[in-house]
Amino acid sequence: MAGPKDCNYLFGVAILIISTHCAMASHSNSKAVKGAYWPSWASNFPPSSIDTRLFTHIYYAFLVPSNVTFKFEISDSTTLMLSDFTFVLHAKKPPVKALYSVGGGGEGHALFSRIASEASSRKNFIDSSIEVARKFDFDGVDLDWEFPQSPKDMKNLDQLLHEWQTAVQKEAKATARSPILLTAAVYFSVEFFLSSVPRSYPVASISKNLNWINAMCYDYRGSWDTSATGAHAALFDSKSNISTSYGLQSWLRAGLPRSKLIMGLPLYGRTWQLKDPTTYGIGAPAVGVGPGNKGTMTYSQVEKFNEENDATVVYDMDTVSTYSFAGTSWIGYDDVRSTMVKIGYAQTLGLRGYFFWAVNGDHEWKISKQASKMWIF
Ligand SMILES: *[C@@H]1O[C@H](CO)[C@@H](O)[C@H](O)[C@H]1NC(C)=O
Ligand SMILES: *[C@@H]1O[C@H](CO)[C@@H](O)[C@H](O)[C@H]1NC(C)=O
Repeated sequence: MAGPKDCNYLFGVAILIISTHCAMASHSNSKAVKGAYWPSWASNFPPSSIDTRLFTHIYYAFLVPSNVTFKFEISDSTTLMLSDFTFVLHAKKPPVKALYSVGGGGEGHALFSRIASEASSRKNFIDSSIEVARKFDFDGVDLDWEFPQSPKDMKNLDQLLHEWQTAVQKEAKATARSPILLTAAVYFSVEFFLSSVPRSYPVASISKNLNWINAMCYDYRGSWDTSATGAHAALFDSKSNISTSYGLQSWLRAGLPRSKLIMGLPLYGRTWQLKDPTTYGIGAPAVGVGPGNKGTMTYSQVEKFNEENDATVVYDMDTVSTYSFAGTSWIGYDDVRSTMVKIGYAQTLGLRGYFFWAVNGDHEWKISKQASKMWIF
């Protein structure tokens, strides 16, 4: 006869079966990912203002571990922000998943290089990352290491991801909860082919240990080269491999499953000052950065600029991008039209979804709304 103890045991087994089943289901589950990063410094754009009908996953950008202990040391003000972020996004109708992203472009590469290089620092970082996720009710953690600098960094990243997923599974089993998601923001291409230190991501480890990767398909051109205008997130480039189509296909060629690849889309433009206002195409001679914050403008700011300055707006079929100009001010960006062509391209490739940098850049949800509507599975 089954006593209370056995009941508990059976109950435990049932939970285990259910949680194992959930883990498997979430593993093979290829529901579309419609992601967006939320910059925590966007003070006029609280998480409550996000239209969650348009997204499935929102990433808190960013948390950075201590460069001494390699653990997260969360201040009181950050504690409030993290709690608010997950609470608000989970309470919204519909709710969305909340992840926090670690690092970011501003953090650089050195800290991650140190964390990944030693077993003890990897363990401190990994354990702390899971603890923070659970403490603040996050559904996952996203690694934004920009970028591994050498083949050795890539090897250490391979090891870090393996140990991280092992720890995630162990924690899920011990707590009978579904495992947290592990994702990473990565370079647009699997290889750093422009660098003097050629190196490639550890695709086998990424495929095995991450739920998906966010390929940052933007920033191909910018204020670091003011000699000519450029489409900073071109889908195609007839003269080089610096394009979203090349980058995405390079990941697939390297063996990454299509269900693990997410295409990055910019909700911002990059600006130049034209040398001559009558020569204004993509690649036109420029003499400096244009309007905006150090040569960048959110899509919403671009729309406002275009209206206020009666700018000429041109859709460029060759690159699949949009640019506008008024006088010598020139902006390369994506609008609804170019974004929709990219979405169609990503769906044709069979990718899992898309993400935006960043959620606060849209103009009246124009792009996010059309993208969500167009992505049909
Ligand atoms: C660690 O971070 C502190 C504070 O940001 C900084 O002053 C220090 O230089 C950093 N140390 C290393 C080794 O990067
Ligand atoms: C693009 O990359 C391919 C290999 O993936 C290479 O064969 C080709 O030469 C590259 N094209 C340019 C313009 O660099």
